[in-house]
Amino acid sequence: MKTNNQVESNSTTDQMKRGEFLRSLGMSSAALMAFYCMGTGLTACSKSSNDPTPAPNPTSTAFTGNADASKGAINFTLDLTSTDYGKLKTVGEFVSVGSVVVANAKGNKLIAVGRVCPHQGGNLEYKLQQDLFKCNLHGSEFNDAGKVQPGWDAKSDVAQYKTSLSTDGNKLTVTA
Ligand code: FES
Repeated sequence: MKTNNQVESNSTTDQMKRGEFLRSLGMSSAALMAFYCMGTGLTACSKSSNDPTPAPNPTSTAFTGNADASKGAINFTLDLTSTDYGKLKTVGEFVSVGSVVVANAKGNKLIAVGRVCPHQGGNLEYKLQQDLFKCNLHGSEFNDAGKVQPGWDAKSDVAQYKTSLSTDGNKLTVTA
């Protein structure tokens, strides 16, 4: 949750000074990192969309390909006749697949963006009412192209992926 009291700092110098002060109190390096990361606005501790977080590929037999951005280009196919992914045939539903969140958005449009929020790693979830993705940790919002909306904690976009549906409507392919 964003508050008026939050102060963002990108200053390595500030962190060094705080580190020196805390070390003088006898804190270990691990304790220092934990201390730095307790605040929500410190970009040195936040994750970035350029810094892929390992996200294991699903074990479902209805999944083939790669959905883990840390292991190379996103390129996978989902079987929409399966119980795991069949809900994507319904408008408003979404599924998390490795590093990606796939949704059947308003207008029966299949869309896919990065699942991991660049602020502090929350999961993006599709919200039909607003027709956007919302982070489940602090609420940052992203449109169907992965662009972060103004005024939220996240300050960078997530990736947008291409989707294509087989002619029979049963296989959804997602690519970078
Ligand atoms: S993790 Fe903080 S807004 Fe997403």
